Amino acid sequence: MKKSIILGICTLMTLSLSAQEKAEVVVNADLGTHTISRHIYGHFSEHLGRSIYGGIWVGEESSIPNTNGVRNDVVAALKQLKIPNLRWPGGCFADEYHWRDGIGPREQRPKMVNTHWGGVVEDNSFGTHEFLNLCELLETEPYICGNMGSGTVEEMSKWVEYITFDGESPMANLRRENGREKPWAVKFWGVGNENWGCGGNMSPEGYAENYRRYATYCRNYGDNRLYKIAGGPNVDDYRWTETLMKNIPRGQMNGLSLHYYTYAGSWTNKGNATGFPMDEYYSTLENALRMDELLTRHSAIMDQYDPQKRVELVVDEWGAWYNVEPGTNPGFLYQQNTLRDAILAGLTFNIFHRHADRVKIANIAQMVNVLQAIILTEGDKMMLTPTYHVFDMYKVHQDATLLPADVKCGTVGRSERKRMPMVSVTASKDNEGAVHISFVNIDPTKDIEITCPVRGLSGGKITDSQLLTAKDVGSFNTFDKPEEVTLTSFKGASFKNGELRFKLPAKSLVTIELK
Ligand code: AHR
Repeated sequence: MKKSIILGICTLMTLSLSAQEKAEVVVNADLGTHTISRHIYGHFSEHLGRSIYGGIWVGEESSIPNTNGVRNDVVAALKQLKIPNLRWPGGCFADEYHWRDGIGPREQRPKMVNTHWGGVVEDNSFGTHEFLNLCELLETEPYICGNMGSGTVEEMSKWVEYITFDGESPMANLRRENGREKPWAVKFWGVGNENWGCGGNMSPEGYAENYRRYATYCRNYGDNRLYKIAGGPNVDDYRWTETLMKNIPRGQMNGLSLHYYTYAGSWTNKGNATGFPMDEYYSTLENALRMDELLTRHSAIMDQYDPQKRVELVVDEWGAWYNVEPGTNPGFLYQQNTLRDAILAGLTFNIFHRHADRVKIANIAQMVNVLQAIILTEGDKMMLTPTYHVFDMYKVHQDATLLPADVKCGTVGRSERKRMPMVSVTASKDNEGAVHISFVNIDPTKDIEITCPVRGLSGGKITDSQLLTAKDVGSFNTFDKPEEVTLTSFKGASFKNGELRFKLPAKSLVTIELK
């Protein structure tokens, strides 16, 4: 049982269930204490490759249909997902971004070199106003990452004043001169990004010391209460977490960030996004499941210093990172996205749900045209990736109560030593009492017979079921064939006498709604 909580997936069935094509799941619909924060379904858009320029921002003069310079097709697709927050402007870019370069008349904004990402010219045409206008269009909360690496305390504190102060002040007046009378509400602020690396190569002690200075001078104006996020550890750097928890007073830090990317191979050869061998299908998912261990271990350290869980974990960069698509700029991190990535996303959300007590914000990297993007564009064309459809399928879990789900299933993997549970399940109950259960079958070839008693649900029937699968784990969408991997309605489930039964197709995700 303990193992099922730590691995978070299922108790490995070796005894009673014959072949590995059956799984027993028990969901308790009348239990559950933690809310699945909607903010774990957040996104991230950096000034990197075609993420902002071309992917979101085309400018008001573009022939691509836009609203104040932002692509209408991308906004419409994103609104469907009810995205809760959007992180910007980086990433590594954040620590060399000077916000004053991105305000005022666009033709007068200085140009800079984007040294991190391809050495291209950044003309600053997308700046603070454009970003916050985008968030208003998307009806999403902005999450701004400030510059500690090459900036100053004054620069960041004035950015907060420029955006959020309603009274008379040099910064608020400057904002008005630039066309925005009322302040914006911006709660989420990151203090630097990856400050152990691209954000200044700092030690945790040095970062904590600096963080306290930055946090002191980033003020709450009016009703705007800042939620300050400290730059967190690199993957399993537990000393970083411990040092920050020890050296930053509770009231100064609301969130601690954590970044973890999944490779099929290693940092130097990450594997290809498409046309990968089966061995890499398995290695990718093995690596993705490591998220659970990281969250467990970082949380354990945080529990030691903060048993009341006042500091939340913010996984503000996660996702699959492969070799760039052949022929594209290596600094642009453009990659395709397959059913494998959709499965990875489902497994990751299920892990985040299991850590709902501590993990309150997460941001996939990145939203458009970069890494595990949910949207790809090419000129005026746009398409949705398999990962987009997982966000769509899972949006029912936003702000719902996490329900305990116990799973018994077989294992699958590339060798006897590297086995993974075939099935991962998560369940929640929303404010209106609807129960949603999401199942992920990672087995590439075997359908799995699911029996799932749903305890504590009086009456109830299936009111909706969705399926995401495709011909192959390597299937992907293209601009010519945008629906090779797409959501369909799932027909095969029955719910009788409080028990759900169905065959979970190989390599698929299914979400069932019971009311
Ligand atoms: O998402 C791409 C990069 O990955 C980000 O800029 C950085 O924070 C991370 O290393």
